[in-house]
Amino acid sequence: MLKLGMVGWRGMVGSVLMDRMKQEDDFKFVSTTFFSTSNAGGKAPEVPNSDPILKDANDLDALAACDVVISCQGGDWTKAHFKPLRDKGWNGYWIDAASTLRMEKDAIIVLDPVNMDVIQKGLREGVKNYIGGNCTVSLMLMALDGLIRADLVEWISSMTYQAASGAGAPNMRELLEQMGALYGVVAEDLKDPRSAILAIDRKVTEELRSTDFPDKAFGVPLAGSLIPWIDKEVEHGQSREEWKGGAEANKILGKPAIGEPGCMPVDGLCVRVGSMRCHSQALTIKLKKDVSCEEIERLLAEANQWVKVIPNRKEDSIHELTPAKVSGTLSVPIGRIHKLNFGPEYVTAFTVGDQLLWGAAEPLRRMLRILVD
Ligand code: HSE
Repeated sequence: MLKLGMVGWRGMVGSVLMDRMKQEDDFKFVSTTFFSTSNAGGKAPEVPNSDPILKDANDLDALAACDVVISCQGGDWTKAHFKPLRDKGWNGYWIDAASTLRMEKDAIIVLDPVNMDVIQKGLREGVKNYIGGNCTVSLMLMALDGLIRADLVEWISSMTYQAASGAGAPNMRELLEQMGALYGVVAEDLKDPRSAILAIDRKVTEELRSTDFPDKAFGVPLAGSLIPWIDKEVEHGQSREEWKGGAEANKILGKPAIGEPGCMPVDGLCVRVGSMRCHSQALTIKLKKDVSCEEIERLLAEANQWVKVIPNRKEDSIHELTPAKVSGTLSVPIGRIHKLNFGPEYVTAFTVGDQLLWGAAEPLRRMLRILVD
């Protein structure tokens, strides 16, 4: 039985991962040690075949006793522990949610419904580092799997509508606090159906601009507004989140890097909106040739068991293609599929996915199952 070390299982992504691993009985196939950065010696979660006592997540010898380490502890912990562990000669499998190692040559970004061939090749070649992808990129590739598999995509422009959860747990709380603060300043006015909406709007705008508005986590209002920049600035006016779209998508697919012959260009703008944990994306896809929408829908629907094609009708779209519908599920709906009037090779689509499940936790637990099998 493989010895598994779990690090960072208590945070938001870690908790979603734990729930999924319990649901899928993953712990039955491994013997598990739970690590903690703050509570070594404390009581570990009760799962099958596990050590009841928490080990110290800074104890390299204890980590080195594991065949597989899964970390959702974050990039700083990875930076501090991964290299020292390898330098000690540890040759186990490292499965990580953090982006730190994603673009390294000896790392594979895991999204097995889409890149099982890349993962299998890596395993045959002795690759030991398997890293979860950026949530937006993973969700886009899950949705477009069928078109990419059929080699029909020349390039993709992805305009995102990203949830508060992508910024972290405190940000989800702050989004709700912001919503509450806005409601609070007009709650009395709203009780009177004859109150003037423009007067209400003025109060809301004043509150959005007030120095007391709760914006410690985001730095600016998100509720009643949006944030048109995610992560750091990189080059050519791109944000790091936008850069990841092209860089990670090609790496996941085993294609050449952006700018090299044979790559699949992906670019666009990434925007934070006031949804809780589902990222949405409006896609413009340039196809390599004219293919009918019926054929596109067939290819998409058949690609994997989680993608769901939503008919391009208003009623279906507003009920099935939303964060409200998808939140907390593994479903990846894609809809609004139709040709753009730029020409027959230009198709548009809209997709939604839970950024904590397929966007973060799910590919990690599935990588463990690949190792176990
Ligand atoms: N970077 C993403 C976001 C989340 O800010 O929404 C994790 O991939």
